[in-house]
Amino acid sequence: MKRFSVLALALATSLTATGTLAKGRLNVLCSTDTEWCKLMETTFEKETGIKVSLVRKSSGEAFAQVRAEKRNPKIDIWWGGTGDPHLQAAAEGLTQSYKADASGELLDWASRQAQQADYKTVGIYAGALGFGYNEDLLKKKNLPAPKCWKDLTNPIYKGEIQVANPNSSGTAYTALATVVQLFGEKEGFEYLTDLHKNINQYTKSGSAPIKSAARGETTIGITFMHDMIKQVKKGFPIKVVAPCEGTGYEVGSMSIIKGARNLASAQKWAEFALRPDIQSLSSEVKAYQVPSNKTADVPPEAPRLSDVKLIDYDFATYGSSDVRKRLLKRWDDEIKSLPR
Ligand code: G6P
Repeated sequence: MKRFSVLALALATSLTATGTLAKGRLNVLCSTDTEWCKLMETTFEKETGIKVSLVRKSSGEAFAQVRAEKRNPKIDIWWGGTGDPHLQAAAEGLTQSYKADASGELLDWASRQAQQADYKTVGIYAGALGFGYNEDLLKKKNLPAPKCWKDLTNPIYKGEIQVANPNSSGTAYTALATVVQLFGEKEGFEYLTDLHKNINQYTKSGSAPIKSAARGETTIGITFMHDMIKQVKKGFPIKVVAPCEGTGYEVGSMSIIKGARNLASAQKWAEFALRPDIQSLSSEVKAYQVPSNKTADVPPEAPRLSDVKLIDYDFATYGSSDVRKRLLKRWDDEIKSLPR
């Protein structure tokens, strides 16, 4: 009888990760690396008593889920991942406006992201794109050190480079949009055609290529620089390169889903995620992005955006529905299916 009542209690109520009774629920779609998703989940549950159910998906896949569930949203808030698909979701009316208390404490790039989407999304962190290589492997294979985007199309790197698929990954879409902005669309796609010959695999998640480089499964990986620093801090022989031509960057974002069933909890998460003390926790899980709140601690390891030659990334254009859709289709039609 006693066993039955314990079971019944467990079924009738829901417990948070810390074992306390939940004071509400929240469904989070998380597009950063898993360790950071987990840290946010447990910290929020502990502080609020709200039971979080969290799913990790790459930015492009997360966007696809939010769009597919438009009429019956299962997600309340989408936290993290590159800004372009968040902007596209805002433009397609899949997310709803919310101006958090900390809106006035954000760095320019983060507030700009919010203003241009009528507060249907907001910047939570930033990071610059680049490529990294495994120094030991490069030496062993007797390959020269690449310094520029153009170096990566040199046939000596055949089969040595990994990047994600821009449909699933926001990182790889940032790379695609960066190349188009740097070289123009025609030359950009010629560049991607040449690069394709050197790619050994298009991964699903954006940071996977540098994890593979760390393990020695690929020599070079195209990812965000902070994802490379994470591997360096873990002790792997990864060299971080800021490409000589200049590079693009992400404004990692957060959006409350339109029709969210747990709106009050979603708004609580939004307030929580913009707080400086919460943003300052990221380095505990080796997430070295630049936080959006001006008073959050910038991890000393975070690549300083001012030290990198950044392009004036046009978020309004590359986060717009028609441009993102068109570029991804063009990449599918013209690049993905080419022989290698
Ligand atoms: C990693 C990076 C984040 C980025 C995310 C995008 O987690 O640390 O800064 O926003 O990748 O993931 P995706 O799989 O969509 O490229």
